[in-house]
Amino acid sequence: MHKYEKIWISLGTASLAIFLIILGISAVHGGHTPAASGIETIHPEHIREDARFSEPGLKEATEGSHDYDLYFIASAFMYEPGEVEIPAGSTVKFHVTSPDVVHGFQVVGTNVNMMAEPGLISTYEMTFDEPGEHLIVCNEYCGVGHADMTSVIKVVNGGTENE
Ligand code: CUA
Repeated sequence: MHKYEKIWISLGTASLAIFLIILGISAVHGGHTPAASGIETIHPEHIREDARFSEPGLKEATEGSHDYDLYFIASAFMYEPGEVEIPAGSTVKFHVTSPDVVHGFQVVGTNVNMMAEPGLISTYEMTFDEPGEHLIVCNEYCGVGHADMTSVIKVVNGGTENE
């Protein structure tokens, strides 16, 4: 009887220790990588020095493909680029950030509707099949120029040299 008690006590102690170790490791880890995966961070005061945002706009993800990265800076009270052309049929991954306050980034008529937050890069991927124009609007109140914050995506036929 005495022997079993000892075994149970040491088993209990061991599992408690293991639990605390796991908790400790995940807490430390969590501090470096946010729980929600895929969140990229950026220093809001140094966006221009960041290679990703030094020249915002459309960039080929891989040469000769229909995949693009599209970088947008949302600031009070404008988007950069103010207009962008995308070849019809391309898959575009949006990367949006803000150097100042929280802005919205809604591509009218699509599922793209996110926030542009200082310090974070919001991403969303979608394919533009149909030629046409999409207005980008800010849907987070950000100040006096809020309603003037717009950009335009123009989906065009046969726009790429590599076709
Ligand atoms: Cu930017 Cu509202």
